[in-house]
Amino acid sequence: MVDNFGRKINYLRLSVTDRCNLRCSYCMPAHGIKKLDHCDILSYEQLHRVATAAVGIGVEKIRITGGEPLVRKGIVDFLAELKRIPGLKKLVLTTNGVFLEEMAEGLRRAGVESINMSLDSLRPEVFARITRGGDLQRVLAGLAAAERAGFEYLKINMVVMRGINDDELFDFAALTLDKPINVRFIEYMPTLRDKNWESLMVPGDELLSRLSGRYDLQQVSPEALDGPARYYQVPGAAGKIGFITPISGHFCQKCNRLRVTSSGMLKSCLFDEGGVSLRPCLERGTDADLLELLRQVEGRKQYKHTLVDSVSDTYNMSQIGG
Ligand code: GTP
Ligand code: 5AD
Ligand code: SF4
Repeated sequence: MVDNFGRKINYLRLSVTDRCNLRCSYCMPAHGIKKLDHCDILSYEQLHRVATAAVGIGVEKIRITGGEPLVRKGIVDFLAELKRIPGLKKLVLTTNGVFLEEMAEGLRRAGVESINMSLDSLRPEVFARITRGGDLQRVLAGLAAAERAGFEYLKINMVVMRGINDDELFDFAALTLDKPINVRFIEYMPTLRDKNWESLMVPGDELLSRLSGRYDLQQVSPEALDGPARYYQVPGAAGKIGFITPISGHFCQKCNRLRVTSSGMLKSCLFDEGGVSLRPCLERGTDADLLELLRQVEGRKQYKHTLVDSVSDTYNMSQIGG
């Protein structure tokens, strides 16, 4: 499937729940967000149909997201089912790591190839502040369990916030030296429409130049089916350092993805206002109708996202799946 701008769409982000066991400050307001009713969330059977149809139009990689995907009951069995879809090359997952200690091995056995884990601080009190109560030790134990479980690779997502965690840049970069862990620094996105967002956002180029003061970073090519990160490596290091720059450097021209929210909205972009509901088709349509609907959405893909310029309401990352 190729969109109006010649981009090949081969990557689906499938959100399986809007629930989360953390309340990260950049993702949710302090009081949380109104949860969807259980009946508004797609069933596993419906999610499976969506995934199968997506593979039918050329999707090769599916990333499972949330909220926090590991809070949904039965997730491991569901993943094992998805893994059996003929033509699906990669099944991967993004998690906050809280349940990884218990679940890493089962996820690997179900056929999940790699895991992206959010981790914004290596200091317990800063971690607790950003996540509004999260326990760093638990998440680090989850990371260790994931390392033991033998995933093809592990990626850490760190949302960099000036004056909050940007002084931990080198501590995070050091994680890539001895272990095959890829650390990605993500620019803070004003999805909650906070007034002070510009003072929090640290541009990727600034981070790169700070790191270059200590390390002779070499740029490395992305892997097949990779998302928007640009990767570098300290010579001889086991892992890579990536930069995801949705604000300073639009990567929309290379965007290869579609998104489906946990309530069944198909979105051509993280910042697609609205989207197309798959629900009526999932309830009454055939598999052929579903394929047709997915094909139509490629025409909605934007050339460039409008997060910063638009005056629209907040974006609910936990429902869209990041
Ligand atoms: P892989 O390359 O498959 O590891 O995917 P990824 O890095 O896109 O996945 P992950 O779920 O770890 O996403 C990391 C973060 O990058 C997201 O949560 C967003 O903050 C950002 N991001 C990913 N995709 C997009 C996108 O299409 N647009 C924007 N603006 N940001 C994105
Ligand atoms: N800005 C940048 N990254 C964000 N994420 C969620 N909200 C934001 C935001 N406002 C990231 C998290 C997680 C991924 C799924 O989305 O760090 O790793
Ligand atoms: Fe693509 Fe939208 Fe992401 Fe831009 S913001 S890279 S158009 S999905």
